[in-house]
Amino acid sequence: MKKVKRFIPASIFGMLLMLLAGCGEENLSALRPKGTASKISFDMMMLSIYIMLGVFFVVAVIFTYVILKYRKRRGDEDIIPEQVEGNTTLEVIWTAIPILLLLILAIPTVLATFTLAAEEPQEGDDTLKIQVTAYQYWWDFNYPDLEFNTAQDLYIPVGEKIYVELTSKDVIHSFWVPALAGKMDTNPGLTNAMWIEAKEPGVYKGKCAELCGPSHALMDFRVIALEKDEFDAWVNHMKTAESAPQTEAAQAGEEIFTESCISCHAVGSEGGNIGPDLTVFGDRETLAGFLEMTDEKIADWIKDPQALKPANHMPAFKDQLNDDEINALVAYLKELKAN
Ligand code: CUA
Repeated sequence: MKKVKRFIPASIFGMLLMLLAGCGEENLSALRPKGTASKISFDMMMLSIYIMLGVFFVVAVIFTYVILKYRKRRGDEDIIPEQVEGNTTLEVIWTAIPILLLLILAIPTVLATFTLAAEEPQEGDDTLKIQVTAYQYWWDFNYPDLEFNTAQDLYIPVGEKIYVELTSKDVIHSFWVPALAGKMDTNPGLTNAMWIEAKEPGVYKGKCAELCGPSHALMDFRVIALEKDEFDAWVNHMKTAESAPQTEAAQAGEEIFTESCISCHAVGSEGGNIGPDLTVFGDRETLAGFLEMTDEKIADWIKDPQALKPANHMPAFKDQLNDDEINALVAYLKELKAN
């Protein structure tokens, strides 16, 4: 029995530790804000925590004082305490204090709500606009003013407010980059808007935050914040991107791509938009948002995508293409880079 009693607090402590450790992944935590919007939310959260801690502390002190001072002592059996009915001063005080605390919480909350609201950039405004479209289970990023698309990796310039429009082509998903901003739903047939701003260059992990099917948990993406000049160079590449495979294997791969893949996937200005744009596929650190980017994994993916990301919409090519053809495709895809 003693062992069980000791085990319970130990396991609660252990679970708390694991929970807190899970919150700590660099660049995937709302508790380590790296953006302007996430810092506003974080500060609001801390303000309410400080107020709650203050209330808890005052109540706990008064509570402890009262139960100690007015506890039943030996010989108190027949004594009836002083009977009090109402105390106007006390009632005014304990009504006024909560009102004051709620005002301290409400004023910054309302101000933050207005600050976090996204305003559509007007004509002549050079705010970068990005249209996010969610699909089961990947993300399309369109830069309407720059006239190109990308997928899975969202490139933004650092230190600028980016206007983001969100929608979905199938079910409801939710766009969430915890270190940069709060989450927002992407709804089919509806456009939501928000803004994000990264304060420092870096790679910020993004998640789908709305249960959307069997591979919901695998619907990861990344936001890559670059210094302005690097971002401009990237934009220049995207605008002029053309596939020009160097090696023989990659050239063979391009032919296969043109026959089997291009109706769904675009490279540069050529190709369909049913699957993710692959213009800078070779720059991605992850395959399909969550897999290690190795030749074997890319080949496995082409052979049987369902085995890796269940219920996604890409067909399996294990019966259409032989190993040599798949290896050539892999060589071609890996050469698709921004420089
Ligand atoms: Cu998309 Cu969950």
